[in-house]
Amino acid sequence: MLRHNILHCLFWTKALVAMLLGLFCLLWFSWRIYDLHSRAVPAFFDGLQSVDVTAPDCNYDPKSNWARLEPQTEGIQMFGFHLDWSVETPGKIVTKLNGFRPNVFNSFMEFSANKSKPAFEFSLLNWYASEAGRVKAMLEISIMMDPADKLEDFKDDRLTELAKALADCNAAYGVPIFLRYGHEMNGPFSSYGFDPVNYVPNFRRMSTILKQYTNMTAIVWAPNIGKGYPFGTSGGVSLPRPGNPNFDLMDTNKDGIIDENDDPYGPWWPGAEYVDWVGLSLYYYPPDEIQLRNHAVPETYFESYLTGVGYNQGANWEHYYNFYRRFALEQNKPMMLPETGSPYLYNISADGTPGVSASNPGDAAAVQPVDLRLQWFNQIMNPTTLAKYPKLKLMVNFEEEKVMGLPSFFRDWKLTFDPIIATAILKLFKGWSTHMKEGNQFDYHCNGAVVLNGQAGSL
Ligand SMILES: *[C@@H]1O[C@H](CO)[C@@H](O)[C@H](O)[C@H]1NC(C)=O
Ligand SMILES: *[C@@H]1O[C@H](CO)[C@@H](O)[C@H](O)[C@H]1NC(C)=O
Ligand SMILES: *[C@@H]1O[C@H](CO)[C@@H](O)[C@H](O)[C@H]1NC(C)=O
Repeated sequence: MLRHNILHCLFWTKALVAMLLGLFCLLWFSWRIYDLHSRAVPAFFDGLQSVDVTAPDCNYDPKSNWARLEPQTEGIQMFGFHLDWSVETPGKIVTKLNGFRPNVFNSFMEFSANKSKPAFEFSLLNWYASEAGRVKAMLEISIMMDPADKLEDFKDDRLTELAKALADCNAAYGVPIFLRYGHEMNGPFSSYGFDPVNYVPNFRRMSTILKQYTNMTAIVWAPNIGKGYPFGTSGGVSLPRPGNPNFDLMDTNKDGIIDENDDPYGPWWPGAEYVDWVGLSLYYYPPDEIQLRNHAVPETYFESYLTGVGYNQGANWEHYYNFYRRFALEQNKPMMLPETGSPYLYNISADGTPGVSASNPGDAAAVQPVDLRLQWFNQIMNPTTLAKYPKLKLMVNFEEEKVMGLPSFFRDWKLTFDPIIATAILKLFKGWSTHMKEGNQFDYHCNGAVVLNGQAGSL
């Protein structure tokens, strides 16, 4: 009997211990998961919010004073980054900038017309959109046609796939998207270049289809800056020859030759009703000569490039080359620099990485990398520039480095990799808090309205 009781007691003790142990393990694992999760998701992640982009109040009013995704307060300028997404994410950028929230992040994507391939990488698009949304930023997608395809190969079914995918991302994550479609089409840089005959109808079709699926994606028409037009042999596509319908469109002054005296933008303009924003690839291009390398940005550089006067060389120059007047003012569109920046030049070291400064050794006029960045952003975003060019609403820094030029060296446009530069640029931006608002200071609506927190959208 005693033996029986002892066994009984042992059994229940063992059962109790096992139960407590199990409970403890369960609690411990729960805590671990919670802990890992909270470490993996930094505090600045606001979370993603889905929206219905087809609700009745998602209609954009074409008579509105504001374009789709244009901040609905006068005097506001936005800032963003083009990222190399293989090493960077919006979250990492926000961390490096001490919690500062850029408004926009860009990625390039290829668009294919070939039926045996997907139209583009849908999962990547979703990832870009969700990563931007997690820091309350908007997404910019620069779509380039697959070099194997021609513009006329892109039929309605492919354009519809694109429209649906963008609408799905708007809806799933509540993230507005700038669609920079077929950019730099006025040059030989891509397979769709120098082809206004097919570019304009393709762009219009894309725009018409997209609007049926979402008003939370804005359409950006963004040629390359006209300086140097028609850009010699710097790309793969050759100039159309007489007899080709593209020749007739591009020889705008009808003198029988396509050259710098022709309009570098007009042949590709799809018309105001198909475009929400206009943009220009406008960088600081520093001189290559060794005795001038890494010198300060000339003070009037940006303004003269924006308006064409800085490279005024021939007849009709202002008439054709003043992009700001022609497209931002006269077409009444907000304007962005969808990729911009001011590079510091480095020599290439023996292992192919950026080496020493490419400045002329001992050149007292050469400045530091931080100076080139500050000078540029001060030029393009300061309150005086904004007052003079109020349609300029978004600047996107090219956050990469590349080997370019002859002789080749590294051009480094990055702002966030060197703490000296990141700190200085952050200080500059914080001083402009009256006209620069961070991503989380805006609310985004399905009709394309972007309004400061708590204010009513007026579309
Ligand atoms: C977008 O707005 C237009 C009016 O400008 C409307 O016709 C269209 O249906 C809207 N699209 C969606 C998906 O709501
Ligand atoms: C379409 O893609 C397939 C698979 O990559 C390729 O074999 C084919 O040549 C392509 N067709 C055209 C017209 O480019
Ligand atoms: C960087 O390269 C240039 C040639 O482009 C060379 O003249 C210069 O001496 C190099 N700078 C240094 C510090 O090695």
